Amino acid sequence: MKGWTSSQRIGGQSGQECPLYTELQRARISTASIIYLGQVLDSDLIELAPSILAADFAHLAEQVERATAGGGSVVHVDVMDGHFVPNLTVGPPLVKCLRQATRLPLDCHLMIEDPDRYIAEFAEAGADWISVHQEACRHLNRTLSFIKSYKCRAGVVLNPATPVETLSEVLEIADYVLVMSVNPGFGAQKFIPATLDKMRKLAEMRAARGYAYRIEVDGGVGMDTVGEIVRAGAEILVAGNAVFGKGDPKANAQALVEAARSASFERV
Ligand code: DX5
Ligand code: ZN
Repeated sequence: MKGWTSSQRIGGQSGQECPLYTELQRARISTASIIYLGQVLDSDLIELAPSILAADFAHLAEQVERATAGGGSVVHVDVMDGHFVPNLTVGPPLVKCLRQATRLPLDCHLMIEDPDRYIAEFAEAGADWISVHQEACRHLNRTLSFIKSYKCRAGVVLNPATPVETLSEVLEIADYVLVMSVNPGFGAQKFIPATLDKMRKLAEMRAARGYAYRIEVDGGVGMDTVGEIVRAGAEILVAGNAVFGKGDPKANAQALVEAARSASFERV
């Protein structure tokens, strides 16, 4: 299964370092059970997903390596088609190259019309997670199932103006929900505070219905916003400009990870 098994996490503990893991070993609980338990507990973990949109593409592998060294544990790839959003970026060939450059999960955020046409290509290029916009899918249930048929994690994305209630009937099958906290298309935009309420609602709906999707946030995540975002319930934090914009991606990622970790202790 692709996805929720990265080795570096904001929680700071890979399986072997975790005291619970040691206890279970002492109790002679099988490794398979521990791995299973690890996956269940993953829903509580907070991860940083550096977005390569803001990286120096001439030195992409090196930039991803720096961000990984700073605690990034998922690589976020923004795919734009010039139709769904007013910008153009990258496609499967870049994903294929990145697949050779990192072992981290590749999180492909498809900001494109008719995403069904390209899902196979992204999966074959090495995508681990694929997310599609609710606003771009006529048959969302079918599209999410299609992504899963390629053994990828299936995510659904909401633009700032789209209510979480529009996902009511697909939340059960979504592996993650991505809350756009800016209007998609460009990096380095200002975080939209009203989207915090959507993260809270998604966390409440998950608890009430016993679902397992994770909550991802994308847009304007930085040192000034990460605390409230984590307290609102987001678990996968996409950050482009705050990691690659200026300075060292490693130091930038470390600072975000540290701030997210502190905020996670303040969650209610
Ligand atoms: C915007 C993209 C984002 C972008 C975020 O449409 O989906 O992933 O990289 O950029 P920052 O973190 O700079 O707001
Ligand atoms: Zn994105």
